Amino acid sequence: MLSSHISARAIGSSIRYNTSRYIGTLGALPAIRKRWKFTSTQKQQQQQSSRAYSRNSPKNEQKTLLKLLENIGSRREVEQYLRIFSEVDQQRFAVIKVGGGVLENELNDLVDSLTFLYRVGLYPIVVHGAGPQLNKKFKEAGIPPGYSVDGVRVTSADMLRIARNVFSDQNLKLVEALEELGTRARPIHGGVFIADYLDKEKYGYVGTITDVRKNAVEASIKMGALPILTCLAETPSGQLLNVNADTAASELAKALKPLKTIYLNEEGQLTNSETKRKIDMINLDEEYDWYMAQPWVKFGTHLKIKESKELLDQLPETSSVAITSANQLQKELFTDSGAGTLIRRGYRLFKYDSLDNVNSENLQSLLEKDPQTVSGYVTAYLSTLSQRPFKIYCDEPYDVAAIVTYDKSAGIPFLEKFSVTEKGSLNDVTDKVWESIKKDNSQLFWVVNGEEKDKAWHFDKSQGSYTKGSQTLFWYGVEDIDKMVSIINQFTASQATPEATPLSKAGTRAYSTSAYQSRDAFSAYNILRRQYSTTASPAKVALIGARGYTGQNFITLVNNHPHLSLSHVSSRELEGKKLEGYTKSEIIYSNLNAEQIKEMQKNGEVDCWVMALPNGICAPFVQAVDDAKAGKSLIVDLSADYRFTNEWTYGLPELGNREALRTATRISNPGCYATGSQLAIAPLVPYVSSPPTVFGVSGYSGAGTKPSPKNDVNYLKDNLIPYSLTNHIHEREISHHLGTTVNFTPHVASFFQGIALTINIPLNKTFKSSEIKELYEQQYKGEKLIKVVGDVPVVKDNAQKHFVKIGGFGVDATGKRVVMIATIDNLLKGAATQALQNINLALGYDETAGIPLE
Ligand code: ARG
Repeated sequence: MLSSHISARAIGSSIRYNTSRYIGTLGALPAIRKRWKFTSTQKQQQQQSSRAYSRNSPKNEQKTLLKLLENIGSRREVEQYLRIFSEVDQQRFAVIKVGGGVLENELNDLVDSLTFLYRVGLYPIVVHGAGPQLNKKFKEAGIPPGYSVDGVRVTSADMLRIARNVFSDQNLKLVEALEELGTRARPIHGGVFIADYLDKEKYGYVGTITDVRKNAVEASIKMGALPILTCLAETPSGQLLNVNADTAASELAKALKPLKTIYLNEEGQLTNSETKRKIDMINLDEEYDWYMAQPWVKFGTHLKIKESKELLDQLPETSSVAITSANQLQKELFTDSGAGTLIRRGYRLFKYDSLDNVNSENLQSLLEKDPQTVSGYVTAYLSTLSQRPFKIYCDEPYDVAAIVTYDKSAGIPFLEKFSVTEKGSLNDVTDKVWESIKKDNSQLFWVVNGEEKDKAWHFDKSQGSYTKGSQTLFWYGVEDIDKMVSIINQFTASQATPEATPLSKAGTRAYSTSAYQSRDAFSAYNILRRQYSTTASPAKVALIGARGYTGQNFITLVNNHPHLSLSHVSSRELEGKKLEGYTKSEIIYSNLNAEQIKEMQKNGEVDCWVMALPNGICAPFVQAVDDAKAGKSLIVDLSADYRFTNEWTYGLPELGNREALRTATRISNPGCYATGSQLAIAPLVPYVSSPPTVFGVSGYSGAGTKPSPKNDVNYLKDNLIPYSLTNHIHEREISHHLGTTVNFTPHVASFFQGIALTINIPLNKTFKSSEIKELYEQQYKGEKLIKVVGDVPVVKDNAQKHFVKIGGFGVDATGKRVVMIATIDNLLKGAATQALQNINLALGYDETAGIPLE
């Protein structure tokens, strides 16, 4: 499908058209061609004329035209090019330079071709020469042709007089022939090309064009007549000067910026004089230097390529030059393969192995437009790139970009991204980029997500594929079966949690960026992060509500974290003050409102929002992040607000939702008591006979910074304060998440930091203490933040530690009741450390990165 668009770019790939809309609409052609009208003169002339076109009544006319069209190419091609040529302003379709030889020997073909264009509503602008005719006349008058050493025709006053007549004769000959076929044409003998003497002494009446006046040309088209121009120019004061017709045509083209600049001559092509074969196409950006260096590229060919480059450098990228013959013109214009020689700018491809020279703005916006990229994460994604060897392949305007990464362990290059704009998919730049990838990578694998029909191109490019669900793994060049098996295994394993990296191609827009897609891509991104996080450029964390003890502890943790940095710290009370205890950069407390948060999210300024606000006030900030609609940044909320919300992931990794956390974007961080209690009760939940009771005592840091009796040191001295005797929010939280009722009574004591939980669990079967301990050891094997011990843990030993300690395991005489103790630092594993643990998981870092372990 792509190859059929090869030449679309050359003539107007910036034009959007939907081919399918035109399939089967040939019958409706005149409707598309709204400019196609017959005037009464045309009709009369048609009736008078004996030529093929005019034999038709207007009714049959369409059929004839269509037959002609269909003879030269497929319906699709014709419709496609017709549409492209018709979409630009009428005077911007084509400038056609007609050589004098064509007027002499191929007038009928020329007139037929031009008539054809005219009938389908296109208005080519014709500039003609009259070389052979001039030579003939000069010869008759006994004047030598008068070429100077440098190929310029020296023109005397006598010659100019003759030239003037010859030009107007030739011009009228063409105009008349066109008119005879009902093709309205207008002779334009002057007033368009303004020139200076090239060198009066040396060449006489030879001009170099200084200005082009488009008015006459435009007026002619407006009146519905093809402008037929001679190449005579004049000085501002009106002296006629002779100019080279090719030059005149290209000056006209520079002024009108047409899609096509066409040179019609008898040869009808440029020829490789070495192989004697036609040069089909020249992509100047890639091939110009090569052509210029070829010994066989000389004289006219050399000049034509050089002039075409000079011309096309000044025209839009979509413009191209065609060299063809009068009777091949339709084929050149309305088929993919063309007939003559096409010269276009072509594609300059680039390759980078570092981001230094990449136009990151362009790359970013291309990736951002990719329907499978989560918009907010492009910056972050790109920042992870430099963590492993990679190559970026792209074209100059970033219509296509491919990112191949080289993970040593896999040993086979992985095409991680392949993003194409709509424009890119309409021309063969996609294939060019692909070729360049293939040249560098003898083996490759990649994954594409989406419907079967959207994968056609990939099936075509790959040697093998393996589909599971909506994702297909593609590869080529992988000789080693074992390696392939292992890649397929990885691929299928990654499907369980959707972690593969879906690539995309433009056109695969059937699936939009739904929440699930975002999640998919988010996790893909995380997987990459996780795999390559050794030298990550830090993820940016904003802390909202930084004044509390938890905030402070979190800041300290981030300060020592290998992959995180704080971007913003917001606190109403501390606004404007410098953030102490943070050394990675200087941060001033701000006081962010929802609107600012939305903006920041939109701008991708934050990878992770940490909400450390009192209960009940977080919602507007979360809403602001959502409203930004800029991809899913991670939000970790430390309040109780979302702990009962199904859409949020509850952040207690040790109790079975670690995998969910890896792909989570909304995490509610559990309460301190709730963390300790759940970890302490969970292994015994299947054996609970009636509700466990938890007697919890917290240090007064748990009562926050807002003055109250519960954090009043004097009041706490020699004291213990029970509170929330029933229905404490953590009681609900524990019961909710354990799925069994738990009774919990909190207390606050005079120590600052830490919690002790004394937990009584009635059991439905008898246990020995050692069995219970074993059960716990079993359950928490490998957990770095849980210590199962035999003796009774105490607050003092656990304060300022990042783990939970569970011990005691006193079983009563019946064996059906156990009392155990759990200690936890309310500010750490009870809050900040756990938040960090969750962030690590969700951003794909090592789970305990930045968490001091002992
Ligand atoms: N019809 C297309 C165009 O006008 C393609 C022409 C291709 N020509 C060629 N010589 N390869 O641009």
